[in-house]
Amino acid sequence: MKGEKHEPSLNLSSNSLNSLNSSIDVALCPSEIRRFENTDLSRTTAVVFDVLRATSTMITGLEHGVDRFFPVETVETARARKAEDPNLLLAGERGGLPLEGFDLGNSPGDFKKLGGRSVVLTTTNGTVALYRVSRAKRIFIGALLNLDALAQVLDSENSTELLLVCAGTGEEFAIEDAIAAGGLVDRLPHKSLSDAAVLVKSMYRQVSSDVASYLRQSRNGRALAGIGKAQDVEECSRVAVTETVGVMEAGAVVRSA
Ligand code: MLT
Repeated sequence: MKGEKHEPSLNLSSNSLNSLNSSIDVALCPSEIRRFENTDLSRTTAVVFDVLRATSTMITGLEHGVDRFFPVETVETARARKAEDPNLLLAGERGGLPLEGFDLGNSPGDFKKLGGRSVVLTTTNGTVALYRVSRAKRIFIGALLNLDALAQVLDSENSTELLLVCAGTGEEFAIEDAIAAGGLVDRLPHKSLSDAAVLVKSMYRQVSSDVASYLRQSRNGRALAGIGKAQDVEECSRVAVTETVGVMEAGAVVRSA
């Protein structure tokens, strides 16, 4: 009607009683993740997304029988872990490329035939982000690959304070992490959403019909294609193709029971 004011409907929360006590916030990039280092996370369930590629690689490995991943922050720590236990496989990247003397890089496809092995993994952003929220009550591994299964587990756990952590690239925001975080928000109704959660959810809804092309065009997608890893981008772009959920337990990422 002429002159009537139309407010956009953001659907910030449902009217259910649950939504009064349950919330989703999002750390969009590394500087925001650091903000949470000094926050009480004792009631928070964190979900860390590094879609290209660290968290997608962990989900792929767990799906194919990797026993556990030990995420570590530095190359030196990774080498020291291997020196203590030579049965461990060493994996990771810097600048997207495998590291000298390591058994594996960070391509999800390399983690499909390692049944029963345990892997020490160090990556530029993903494993660092996991450390930054290590005081959270629970920490899950987020990816596009397992969005449905992850949403189901979070829902059944009745997690009331959810923090979605977008690992980013270097110090910057990475669109693929925000898209995946938005996909999770979209699958978890009945929550009260922060402004950042509303943003990623609406971004996901805009791109969900062709996530792969957004990942190809992303800064990381182009960088990976530039070093011959375009196939990794395709692998990591698949949405809800596995039931595997990864969770941190005693310093290791394991398959959630
Ligand atoms: C990271 O942790 O920054 C990424 O996984 C980088 C990559 O895989 O190239």
